[in-house]
Parts: sequence; structure tokens; C-alpha cells
Amino acid sequence: MLHVEGLSVRYGPVRALESVSFEARSGSITTVLGANGAGKTTLLRTLSGLVPSHQGTASFDGQRITGRAPEAIARLGVSHVPEGRGVIAELTVDENLRLGTFVRVRRGDRRAVVDEIYERFPQLRDKRHRSASTLSGGERQMLVIGRALACRPRLLLLDEPSLGLSPIVTAQLMATLRELTAGDGLGAVLVEQNARSALSVADWAIVLNLGRVVVADRPARLAADADLRRHYLGF
Ligand SMILES: Nc1ncnc2c1ncn2[C@@H]1O[C@H](COP(=O)(O)OP(=O)(O)OP(=O)(O)O)[C@@H](O)[C@H]1O
Ligand SMILES: [Mg+2]
Repeated sequence: MLHVEGLSVRYGPVRALESVSFEARSGSITTVLGANGAGKTTLLRTLSGLVPSHQGTASFDGQRITGRAPEAIARLGVSHVPEGRGVIAELTVDENLRLGTFVRVRRGDRRAVVDEIYERFPQLRDKRHRSASTLSGGERQMLVIGRALACRPRLLLLDEPSLGLSPIVTAQLMATLRELTAGDGLGAVLVEQNARSALSVADWAIVLNLGRVVVADRPARLAADADLRRHYLGF
């Protein structure tokens, strides 16, 4: 579904990504792990068209996405959930979700798509008319994921969704990601510093260090490697 080949990104003299290659499949979660500054956010921002690549390519369903505008990539069904739970605080929960539908869903279908999001996240339905600024951290994370799902995406790019959430809410979030990708061909690239949680749900894992892929393997194999955990994963 997503094919990344030799991707390099520079910010002036800073080499943020160096020849990164990997694949992400539909119906599966690919986690991208690594310490602060490893290049995780840069990778997602490059895939969604917000940062230009210096070399290499990324393609989605056989179509090249590197070099295309963020709107064009979003219309293909790539939905980016950025760092930091960016809900629009002045809008209600319902308005935030409706915004998500504007990208890819026809006007007549938008209400039904938002209702589907409420089926998955009943807590959001209960607060649909409340301003997003009144939500708890876990509810905000639900809302940003809900808004991304309202685009009817085929690939979700998630940047540290567990940051600042309690262990229980994090576990719920991971279970939700698992369910979302289990059925209908949705794929996810999950960037996390919380390696233990991410490895518990992912189907494939890559570890970035200083912009390079240092390991790509099955999550169970990474979790079982004490040296790797100590060096790169912090647990
Ligand atoms: N806009 C920018 N201009 C210059 N350098 C940047 C910019 N954004 C990131 N960098 C640098 O690129 C490298 C990768 O940063 P990036 O934010 O992608 O890492 P990260 O793995 O997401 O880190 P974190 O875990 O802290 O979120 C770092 O050296 C960072 O300082
Ligand atoms: Mg980051």
C-alpha cells in the first residue's frame, strides 16, 4: 500500500532522514520507533506532503506521493494525525468531526460518516455539542483520530498519539487502532516513543536512529532483544 524507497530529507545542513526504505500494508500497523530527534515526525510530514524530500520516493497504491501537495495526498486517502492533539478548540466536537469529512466525503454522506464515528466513540457523541476545549486529553485524542477517520482514509499516519495519556487510556487507544485496521483494509503508520505499547499492537516495526533505519523486524523480535531495547527503545 505504502512503498518508501531511499527517502532523504534535509533541513538546510541537518540530515533528518537518510535513505529510509520500508513498506506499510493495508490491514496492518507499522510502527516507527526511535529517540527524540530520530526523524519520526519528519517522516510522517514528508509522507503527507508537508516537508519536501531531497531524494527518494514514496508511493501509495502505486501512485507517487513525494512531490505532491498535501491536499492531493489527503484526497488519495492518506490521513495525518499530527503531534499534539490539534483539535480546533473553538469548534464543537461535532464541527471538528464534520471538518474531517470535507476532504473526501460527498456532502450527502457526511452526516452518516460522522454518525459512524460516534458509533465507535460514544463518549464523543455524548459531548457532541460541547466545545472541543472542554475535552480531557484522552477524549481529544479520540477526537483527532475521529476527525482523521472522517476523511474515510485508507492509510492513517499517527504521530505519538499516546503522548500524555494515562496507561489505561493508552491501552484503549492501541486496542482501537487494532480494531480499526483489522477489518476494512485500513493501514496505519504509528510513530511512538512509547515503544512497549506500540510493539504490543503493531504487525511490523522499524527503528530510526539519526534519520536512518537501524532495524526492521517483527515486533516480538524487537521486544525480545534486550540490547536493542536498551539502545533504542528505552525499556
Ligand atoms: N523545521 C526544522 N528545521 C530544522 N531542523 C529540524 C526541523 N524539524 C526537525 N528538525 C531536526 O530534524 C531532526 C529530526 O526531527 P524530528 O522532529 O523529525 O524527530 P522526532 O523523531 O519526531 O523527534 P521527537 O521524538 O522529539 O518528536 C532533528 O535533528 C531535528 O532537530
Ligand atoms: Mg516527533
